[in-house]
Amino acid sequence: MAVALIVAAGRGERLGLEKPKALVALGGQPMLSWSVEALRSVRGVEQIVVALPADALDAAPEGTLPVAGGEARSESVRAALRASEAGDPVIVHDAARPLAPRELFERVLDELQQSGAAAVIAATPVSDTIKELDADGCTVRATLERSRLWAVQTPQVFRRAALEHALSEASAEVLRGATDDAWLIERLGGRVRVVDGGPRNMKITTPTDLRLAELLLGEQAR
Ligand code: CTP
Ligand code: MG
Repeated sequence: MAVALIVAAGRGERLGLEKPKALVALGGQPMLSWSVEALRSVRGVEQIVVALPADALDAAPEGTLPVAGGEARSESVRAALRASEAGDPVIVHDAARPLAPRELFERVLDELQQSGAAAVIAATPVSDTIKELDADGCTVRATLERSRLWAVQTPQVFRRAALEHALSEASAEVLRGATDDAWLIERLGGRVRVVDGGPRNMKITTPTDLRLAELLLGEQAR
């Protein structure tokens, strides 16, 4: 049986509202509730752990296990994993991606099962051309081959032993540098596969993203 870890302990500084981002209202309920609802309907999920800011643990939806998150995202993942019972595989999902549908969680889980990879992640092909800059931050060094570039999303699913090993291996510095957990597996040579999560599985970072997500949810409801 699987365990789901939702990371919701960020402060949402770029969104710039007075509450933590995961608790901001979206489509009439806290952003976090969308992910909890989707995960409740995913087959095989026996527990949902939610990492929240230490002063907001009472905001955890009923039936979920709240845990205080850490300074960095991966520290929040580690705290949630430690709090969880022995679920395997482990689903990691950002509360900041409230539009991820049940079907996407099931596709990444199925791919983990079938592929034998250590991890499977949702991602989507980039539509912009991406250039790499020099250390000066304003001179182009290279234009990357777009057909091979994918923007990483969550959900990301892991064999429990692989994620536990990767998190225990990582120093505090490595954890602070990890914007995605699959990288912790890659750096130890583990195999990570990708499933296309599509452009609608957007991450809410700025006020514009929040507005866009409202529009997409309104469209889904009609
Ligand atoms: N997150 C977390 N613990 C942290 C930092 C982030 O659980 N210490 C979570 C966020 O709550 C979010 C996800 O990781 O669901 C992705 O992070 P991000 O979009 O950067 O959210 P915030 O850190 O809240 O936003 P900002 O960087 O603008 O402050
Ligand atoms: Mg952040």
